[in-house]
Amino acid sequence: MRFSGKKALVTGAAGGIGQAIVHRLRAEGATVAVTDRATADLEAEARFDGDLTDPAFCNELPGRVHAALGGLDILCNNAGVITRGRITEASDADLALSLAVNVEAPFRLCRAAIPLMADAGGGAIVNTASCWGLQPGPDHPIYIMTKAAIASLTQCLGRDHAHQNIRVNAVCPNEVNTPMLRTGFEIRGLDADKAVDALNASVPLGRIAEPEDIADVVAFLASEDARYMCGALLEVNGGKPVG
Ligand SMILES: NC(=O)c1ccc[n+]([C@@H]2O[C@H](COP(=O)([O-])OP(=O)(O)OC[C@H]3O[C@@H](n4cnc5c(N)ncnc54)[C@H](O)[C@@H]3O)[C@@H](O)[C@H]2O)c1
Repeated sequence: MRFSGKKALVTGAAGGIGQAIVHRLRAEGATVAVTDRATADLEAEARFDGDLTDPAFCNELPGRVHAALGGLDILCNNAGVITRGRITEASDADLALSLAVNVEAPFRLCRAAIPLMADAGGGAIVNTASCWGLQPGPDHPIYIMTKAAIASLTQCLGRDHAHQNIRVNAVCPNEVNTPMLRTGFEIRGLDADKAVDALNASVPLGRIAEPEDIADVVAFLASEDARYMCGALLEVNGGKPVG
């Protein structure tokens, strides 16, 4: 029960990794507020439906969570969108959406959460970046640069706010078996189960990650077990580097 008495906010809570993070935090005693576009079906102590591309929603959310739960100790910036294809196929709308969800929303949520955590004597922020933000793969320039940006923000904030006992770290998954991955196959007309089987064979551990494989590392970074970690970018890749 590493999170007894802790209050947490998880973004993208209705998604594959988000649901697993919420489950793990609650299983270990946290009181959890969830946010996504639709959260009615999620088990949580507080639900906040909203669009992370709305600056006001992001600016106000940590304060609303703090008021609803009586504190905010842990922020998991997990929501994300992926735009596939080369730069010559990308629209301004693709660029704006990815920057808004993957970079600007975590920026605003961190900016609003940090003073609340500092007043309470500390906290932990865990961002979901990507292996691809550390080492670019092919044909996803928008996604990759946004994940590089959140990785860089993690390192900056990890350094800047350690003196306030606020630890900021990121998990960097390679492929994870979630709707984000599976819809990518479906968009390309592929059978998602067969495509995942083929991908499994490319991973030294023999399978791509399940959401729980990532959520357990997020929980580690949010917990006292990671009490001396600030600004770390933890690759969770089953031994598979970005090729
Ligand atoms: N699945 C992978 O292979 C993989 C690999 C590396 C990193 N990641 C990262 O993990 C995180 C979680 O991804 P996932 O695989 O669980 O994807 P997912 O699509 O299952 O979940 C993402 C969630 O974010 C929410 N979201 C997106 N845009 C939003 C908006 N404007 N407002 C509110 N909520 C919004 C979605 O509704 C969804 O529930 C993302 O940041 C993603 O980039 C995923």
